[in-house]
Amino acid sequence: MNSRIACAQLRAKIMSADDAAAVVGPGSTVGMSGFTGSGYPKAVPMALAARIEAEHAKGNPFRIRIWTGASTGPELDGALAKADGIEFRLPYNSDPVAREKINAGQMDYFDMHLSQVAPMAWQGFLGPLDTAVVEVSGIRADGSLIPSSSVGNNKTWLDRAAKVILEVNRWQNAALEGMHDIYYGTALPPNRVPIPLTRADERIGEACFRCDPDKIVAIVETDAPDRNLPFTPPDAAAHAIAGHLLDFLRHEVAKGRLPASLLPIQSGVGNIANAVLTGLVDGPFEALTAYTEVIQDGMLDLLDAGKLRVASATAFSLSPEAAARINADMARYRDRMILRPQEISNHPELIRRLGCIAMNGLIEADIYGAVNSTHVMGSRIQNGIGGSGDFARNAYISIFMTPSTAKGGKISAIVPQASHVDHISQDVQILVTEQGLADLRGLSPRQRAGLIIENCAHPDYRPALGDYFARARKESYGQQSPSLPGEALSWHQRFIDTGSMLA
Ligand code: COA
Repeated sequence: MNSRIACAQLRAKIMSADDAAAVVGPGSTVGMSGFTGSGYPKAVPMALAARIEAEHAKGNPFRIRIWTGASTGPELDGALAKADGIEFRLPYNSDPVAREKINAGQMDYFDMHLSQVAPMAWQGFLGPLDTAVVEVSGIRADGSLIPSSSVGNNKTWLDRAAKVILEVNRWQNAALEGMHDIYYGTALPPNRVPIPLTRADERIGEACFRCDPDKIVAIVETDAPDRNLPFTPPDAAAHAIAGHLLDFLRHEVAKGRLPASLLPIQSGVGNIANAVLTGLVDGPFEALTAYTEVIQDGMLDLLDAGKLRVASATAFSLSPEAAARINADMARYRDRMILRPQEISNHPELIRRLGCIAMNGLIEADIYGAVNSTHVMGSRIQNGIGGSGDFARNAYISIFMTPSTAKGGKISAIVPQASHVDHISQDVQILVTEQGLADLRGLSPRQRAGLIIENCAHPDYRPALGDYFARARKESYGQQSPSLPGEALSWHQRFIDTGSMLA
């Protein structure tokens, strides 16, 4: 008997990954679990990739449409993209193989706000969902499913899919049971009601997923780790950004615009976000809370330092060392962490109500503060907007941060005009680079431009930005947001032509 599957009726459905993968037909839409490399299915996607490769070798076209929570791992996006098996993908990808296929025009990708995936699926806007492939950490005797290291859109996939395949992963800590909060009160308009959550540490749902046992067609047992990637140790730029940000937060508390324990923090993905969290460990703020998307290493450090009271998120995104740390003491962490569906962790209503302090990374910002989080040189996707739009637009304070240059100084992160816009300037209140911080609240576009060039741009690019802005102030068609359309994207074209934005 397997202790992770306590329901006798469901134990009868255990089979191999190959047999389970055979359930998925060409052209079908598959909703998979997985968020920032945690809780994604590991065996069935690999078996499916092998089957797709075999079919392609026989001359039979076989591609599927994949929906997930967010990014997954090499066994899912990597393997299926390599097999040329993904026709369409939503809502977020960071896998390098899939990224290449997307940028080569061989895969369609709908990069969307993460809070909107489940509602859009329910609204029917995305079409039918044929199969769900969901990793869980166990099955209770009553057939309810104990979630894994991410929740993502799993509740919606289990509810909406015609057929369900489960992976029960023994690697996941059994003590995860009780950490999750699965809210079943969402509804479509006109029946939607307020979500009854007023504090980051509140629980409003159930510990497990419900799933109609008749829909479960296969259960595969696995014992495989999540894709836990090491964080690069913060460099000088990351430390400087964290320093500017901490000064700013201290200043806001001193001004009486933030409480001493701040407001629930949201921290985006990436190394800089993690460096800021690490900076908070030595900062003056106590009894912090986090209402965020992912729990990273830095959050764990804050919890262990006694600075963070509770972290609410939808998934873990940990280094192997942090995953080992959490797994060694899961029962203790479980009381101070809550994993929720991503439509709740990223819900605009809740972010606005709680007053989150949103901190996210960016690719480039322009002199007016419009932010591009997703596209390199306006056309190559890096990852996706993820939850940054959910948080930035609805936050109490919306902060974006980046080193002032990329690719060894050949690219300026501050440009005359963003080559793609994910966050309009109205959603960007604070911009931080290692050079300094620009507080853009209450400023006109022209005031913003002066401050961003002066405080945030790298000295190698500051004179050219100043020159552009000065000429735009003389020659622009209008003076609300002065610009020279024929020149505004010339820095990007220069990089494409010469490999550097420097003239
Ligand atoms: N031009 C070209 N490439 C750029 C660039 C620019 N202006 N800015 C960053 N990059 C590249 C970096 O060179 C690096 O490339 P590499 O992996 O080949 O070395 C990559 O983008 C990541 O940048 P890095 O400086 O390591 O920052 P990061 O890890 O903080 O990531 C984003 C920055 C913008 C890519 C990341 O924050 C992201 O994907 N954001 C969108 C989603 C999001 O905000 N989610 C959180 C919501 S909860």
